[in-house]
Amino acid sequence: MFDLDFPLSIAPMMEWTDRHYRFLMRKITQKTILYTEMVTAEAILRGNQEKLLGKSEDGPCVLQLGGDSPEKIRQAARIGTEFRYDALNLNVGCPSERVQNGSFGACLMKEPNLVAELMLAMAEGSKLPVSVKHRIGVNGQESYDDLSRFVQIVHERGKTNHFIVHARIAILEGLSPSENRSIPPLRYGDVHRLKKDFPHLKIEINGGIKDLNDAKFQIDSGLDAVMIGRAAYENPMIFRFADSCFTNQGIQNSESFNWDKLNDEIELYLRDWVIQGGRIHTVLRHALGFFYGQKGGRIFRRYLSENMHKSSKDIQLFKNAIASSGVLD
Ligand SMILES: Cc1cc2nc3c(=O)[nH]c(=O)nc-3n(C[C@H](O)[C@H](O)[C@H](O)COP(=O)(O)O)c2cc1C
Repeated sequence: MFDLDFPLSIAPMMEWTDRHYRFLMRKITQKTILYTEMVTAEAILRGNQEKLLGKSEDGPCVLQLGGDSPEKIRQAARIGTEFRYDALNLNVGCPSERVQNGSFGACLMKEPNLVAELMLAMAEGSKLPVSVKHRIGVNGQESYDDLSRFVQIVHERGKTNHFIVHARIAILEGLSPSENRSIPPLRYGDVHRLKKDFPHLKIEINGGIKDLNDAKFQIDSGLDAVMIGRAAYENPMIFRFADSCFTNQGIQNSESFNWDKLNDEIELYLRDWVIQGGRIHTVLRHALGFFYGQKGGRIFRRYLSENMHKSSKDIQLFKNAIASSGVLD
């Protein structure tokens, strides 16, 4: 069994945290908790389950579900368990209109009793640990008191003990999902206050955390865990020190990373994927940021992005991109 108490996770991100991204991240960090993209209960019940839920990586992974029907969530949770996920999470933070039309996502913040029912259904359907990912509020319901009431109800009626809080409100009309991740200001203070008011709950903070130093600061300030989203995708290698980051030794910047091992593992993975009929760009598009901010990093990125579509079966492309860009010289 994995340590689901490790205090660092990578956020669920649609189109980004698919099985290939998670495979790559698992080669960089063994302990960080990974999340799937959100999968709706409806899709699981009607769609291709292997395609939606199949995993390629080991280690702790949480399936994020979306939905507003307790019965469908219960069934989806049961199916999720069969696919070897370690825990389940409910999305109550996504403001996209497509999601709102199904009346789930962030607009569920207005219906804490329904969220509590969904959480109970998820736990009953799976017997796995469950958590909820939500915002600090939605427009019109923005105060700390509203947030605290939401957490209280979901905890007491929904028997939920783990809350992942994106420290911004969601504005349900007029802003795109991406604007909703940058325009509403971050209110970390509200998340810290939640931890003080509910010390027995696991409170995980999310939103705007850029690196492991930021993450460590949040943990040292009393929160239980930190979830990193965009920075984990744009600059995946910040996670190379994650496994030792929360030990007494702190962040070990001197460790060298075994690129040869990673090259070999990627090549083997791509070989399998290509044999199954896959194209390498569906995997390697997630590696574009591997040398973010480093000398040669842009050349690496350009080489990879120009060639991964042209040579859709070239399993050595990652290695060649490193050699051609000189990033490791
Ligand atoms: C491309 C993209 C897709 C996202 N998809 C989801 C999703 O499926 N479920 C979810 O709960 N949040 C989703 N989010 C929100 C992130 O999980 C996270 O809450 C948000 O990006 C804030 O964290 P950050 O500032 O560390 O990126 C998505 C974010 C991005 C950038």
